[in-house]
Amino acid sequence: MTITRAVIRGVGHYLPTREVPNSEFEKTLDTSDEWIRSRSGIERRHFAAEDETTASMALEAARAALADSGVDAADLDGIIVATSTPDLTFPSTATKVQAALGMTAGFAFDLQAVCAGFVYALANANGMILSNQAKRVLVIGSETFSRILDWSDRTTCVLFGDGAGAVVLEAAEGEGTPEDRGILSADLHSDGRFRDLLYVDGGVSTTGTAGCVRMEGREVFRHAVEKLASSAETALEKAGLTGADVDWVVPHQANLRIIRSTTARMGIDMDRVVVTVQDHGNTSAASIPLAMSVGKAQGKIKQGDLIVTEAIGGGLAWGAVVLRW
Ligand code: UT7
Repeated sequence: MTITRAVIRGVGHYLPTREVPNSEFEKTLDTSDEWIRSRSGIERRHFAAEDETTASMALEAARAALADSGVDAADLDGIIVATSTPDLTFPSTATKVQAALGMTAGFAFDLQAVCAGFVYALANANGMILSNQAKRVLVIGSETFSRILDWSDRTTCVLFGDGAGAVVLEAAEGEGTPEDRGILSADLHSDGRFRDLLYVDGGVSTTGTAGCVRMEGREVFRHAVEKLASSAETALEKAGLTGADVDWVVPHQANLRIIRSTTARMGIDMDRVVVTVQDHGNTSAASIPLAMSVGKAQGKIKQGDLIVTEAIGGGLAWGAVVLRW
């Protein structure tokens, strides 16, 4: 029996040119390169220039993913941008990207699930493709977290970075087995009882401002390790697979210690994990497509590889997607 699968045809990313090492924060905060490295694994991050926005970075990543896939923008049925740092309250960042790509047809919308945004967007695009609402969807994660950081708060501002990544998903025929290429399963969760652990203290209908990131790091860490491993295992189970089948884990890049603990729980060695947190910091919804793009460029991720991707962020919202590249 043949079934429809949503296959990744191409991937691309964009990073702002301004690279900021940990030592930069030592000038203004009671912190150190040693603390940031040992607690988070982060060594540097990129920050957007004044004239760069979430949409402009998304556009660069989109162009790279389209070029990699050989798909023309005119042949896309839609764009989903996962972001918590949109250019404007409305219209969506996705419609800006749509216009800049010269698309005059199809849908474009933003999806907000903070750091889990790209996993949520992949699951949504997959649903649209499987239900025959679209054949080709451009899925982007793009963030300018530097615009919502409190530069006097050492517990948050040293952790985040800016950037964008994108994939082109296309409908293809599969056999309905775990050997198929494409998205094989998804597992999504949220629990709003934990909203105070990681949030932004501003918004349109409350303060009328953009606000700044606030986080109970230790608590989020505890939830992350437990929930990520469990969601990844559930997604693998749904696909009829186990950790032993995984070629690459492409985790959300928030903290190297979280990545290590999560993959250890899954029984997967670190040499099967794509890690970029040292170079990018936490780029929220952009971190997974950025890591996918870098992992492919480094020759790690190859066609046919089984990939597990997982993320958790504000909400709390978390989830995992299993796909064959
Ligand atoms: O992407 C969304 C999901 N987010 C995450 O997954 C982030 C989850 N959390 C984490 O990554 C870690 O909890 C952090 C990296 C944020 C913090 O690491 P930690 O090992 O949990 O440290 P901590 O929060 O327990 O803080 C330890 C100490 C504290 O001092 P006291 O109370 O022990 O005296 C902090 O005040 O480190 C202090 N501290 C710092 N010291 C130097 C906090 N931030 C800094 C800093 N520099 N930047």
